Amino acid sequence: MSTLPKRRILVTSALPYANGAIHLGHLVEYIQTDIWVRFQKMRGHECWYACADDTHGTPIMLRAEKEGITPEQLIARVWHEHKRDFDGFLIGFDHYGSTNSEETRLHAHAIYARLKAAGLIEVRAIEQFFDPVKQMFLPDRFIKGECPKCHAKDQYGDACEVCGAAYQPTDLIEPYSAVSGAKPVRKRSDHFFFRLSDPQLAEFLRDWTRPPHVQAEAANKLKEWLDAGLTDWDISRDAPYFGFEIPDAPGKYFYVWLDAPIGYLGSFQALAEREGLDFDAYWDATRAAAEGTEVYHFIGKDILYFHALFWPAMLRYAGLRTPTGVFCHGFLTVNGQKMSKSRGTFITAESYLRHLNPEWLRYYFAAKLTPTLEDIDLNFDDFVARVNSDLIGKFVNIASRAAGFIHKRFDGRLGDLPPHDTPLPAMQAAAEAIAAYYEAREYGKAVREIMNLADLANQYVDQYKPWEMAKQPGQEAKLHQVCTVAINAFRLLTLYLKPVLPRLATQVEAFLNIPPLAWADSGQLLTEHLIQPYQHLMTRVDPKAVDAMLADNRDSLMPPPAPVRHGEHQQHGVVTKSAEPTPPPSSAKGLINIDEFGRIDLRVARIVEAEHVAGADKLLKLTLDLGGERRTVFAGIKSTYTPESLVGRLTVMVANLTPRKMKFGVSEGMVLAASDERGGPFLLTPDSGAEPGMRIK
Ligand code: MSP
Ligand code: ZN
Repeated sequence: MSTLPKRRILVTSALPYANGAIHLGHLVEYIQTDIWVRFQKMRGHECWYACADDTHGTPIMLRAEKEGITPEQLIARVWHEHKRDFDGFLIGFDHYGSTNSEETRLHAHAIYARLKAAGLIEVRAIEQFFDPVKQMFLPDRFIKGECPKCHAKDQYGDACEVCGAAYQPTDLIEPYSAVSGAKPVRKRSDHFFFRLSDPQLAEFLRDWTRPPHVQAEAANKLKEWLDAGLTDWDISRDAPYFGFEIPDAPGKYFYVWLDAPIGYLGSFQALAEREGLDFDAYWDATRAAAEGTEVYHFIGKDILYFHALFWPAMLRYAGLRTPTGVFCHGFLTVNGQKMSKSRGTFITAESYLRHLNPEWLRYYFAAKLTPTLEDIDLNFDDFVARVNSDLIGKFVNIASRAAGFIHKRFDGRLGDLPPHDTPLPAMQAAAEAIAAYYEAREYGKAVREIMNLADLANQYVDQYKPWEMAKQPGQEAKLHQVCTVAINAFRLLTLYLKPVLPRLATQVEAFLNIPPLAWADSGQLLTEHLIQPYQHLMTRVDPKAVDAMLADNRDSLMPPPAPVRHGEHQQHGVVTKSAEPTPPPSSAKGLINIDEFGRIDLRVARIVEAEHVAGADKLLKLTLDLGGERRTVFAGIKSTYTPESLVGRLTVMVANLTPRKMKFGVSEGMVLAASDERGGPFLLTPDSGAEPGMRIK
């Protein structure tokens, strides 16, 4: 086996925003990246994986304020949650930092100074909405009002979620501040702009935004943006803001998206200091070109604009190297639809890990991943079927079938190999083809190829039937050989799957009593070697565990999601839930029987009081009359109803939910409402004739 020239590679994933929990959508990216990094390491390259939390911006500042803690306390807590989730999914960062670090601040200052010296920073006054009560400028997402097109109420300042229209916050009818409710006023202030409209930048970007820097599909998208013309980018925000203050500009802060990618440098700097790496060999434009170091960013398609336009332009004109490649992936859908809290498919990493094995998801994503921008779907029936048939049925079974005989009949020692007619040469010969698939991020193809090899191995075992040989006298030597072939086949499959299943591979290495498998080890086979007794490696997925996980996510009353910055994905708000776990449905298909339905006590209720809840931006406190009995329910319907409009009307409530203690009081049930991407929540109303307290069945 020839040794490959050793590459020096830095890999990053996008820095997850510190304003929310890690969910399965995020994991598409971190798992995709982690597989690639583990593969490069197995090939013997020097490959570093750096990431960090993205910690700055208005939503974090306001959320901390609401929780009565400092932003620093909030981001410290979230950092631990994120790290716990990533560890749980075996994401092997070499460093996981924070953009709120000294390293990142210094790099932000240095880059800014160089852009300024290059004449690419300009200051001009702009007029924006200002909250007179809160004394702050309002980002688009914190201004709400009536849509100028379709007149839907309570729409965000940048786009209408009902009709899809995009507009300026100043176009809203009767705008109000989502922070204080006050009517915003227009106010001028100085802002700092990165002069992206400069013709030399456009010229540079036109040239840069092509394969291999970006995928062909991404290049097309980028060309459209470039053809439309780039405008100068506003990189400053006024105090109060949680971020880095701009040097020599008191009260002005870098906009979060300015320092977010600089967090890649900050995180790598911390790693370089810890590991004694030469930072400049990776990032200085001249040094990097001379030394041939490589830098890759894995990102989702929603942040392509930032990574393929703003970021290379910043780097280029600050004298730093530009990325070798920006690898963009699509979005996760669950059961064919956008992830949704009401369907229980907005699944947090933490809740997945409570019910299911992380390597199942790593395998499933790997099997579906391509190097394109296409979305990928997590279908739970398919997930269960594929994991059980591939990982258990085809892969793990090979070891469990052969290991028992090695242990019981041959004192745990492998024998020699038959000279002909085994699948092993073909399995070894596939090493480079599989490596090429991993390298090209064609994980789906890699997995298919590996499963074809698993089929070969299983056919071999089925042909010789060691369980029958074991009963026939005189077949001892042959049995030993067949089992030795099977164990070797299992070892090769483990090696090929190791980037995807790192924990399982470690268990197998212990079982086979071998050092950590590297790619070049596919050239060798194991004979006359003592192995450990077989220990159970992986169980089948139980569809009930999937149902329980979905029920968990449906039931957990998420805190009302804070508004998010533009460029992030907006998740739909809370439905009216007051939740206690419901029992899992009686079948895997999610069907329930009439008795199970009958356990839900649905009643007609009259809303006799409705009021705002101090400190809650989605909830209304309702007092419901059930025909004599009164209940208090906190319902997440503030975005669609004013309290006044609700008093006196009839609706439907779940009357037998276990009362739930919330931050604002005890909720004694829930009202029913409809919602999805198109809008809502919209309350149900019974037909005339229905009276408070009537049972719905
Ligand atoms: N903080 C920014 C990134 C700054 S990078 C300098 C951000 N954070 S994020 O938490 O919203 O997203 C982190 C990554 O996860 C992004 O690459 C994003 O595309 C990806 N995903 C978030 N939701 C996703 C899905 N539902 N599906 C696939 N990837 C998703 O953006
Ligand atoms: Zn509209």
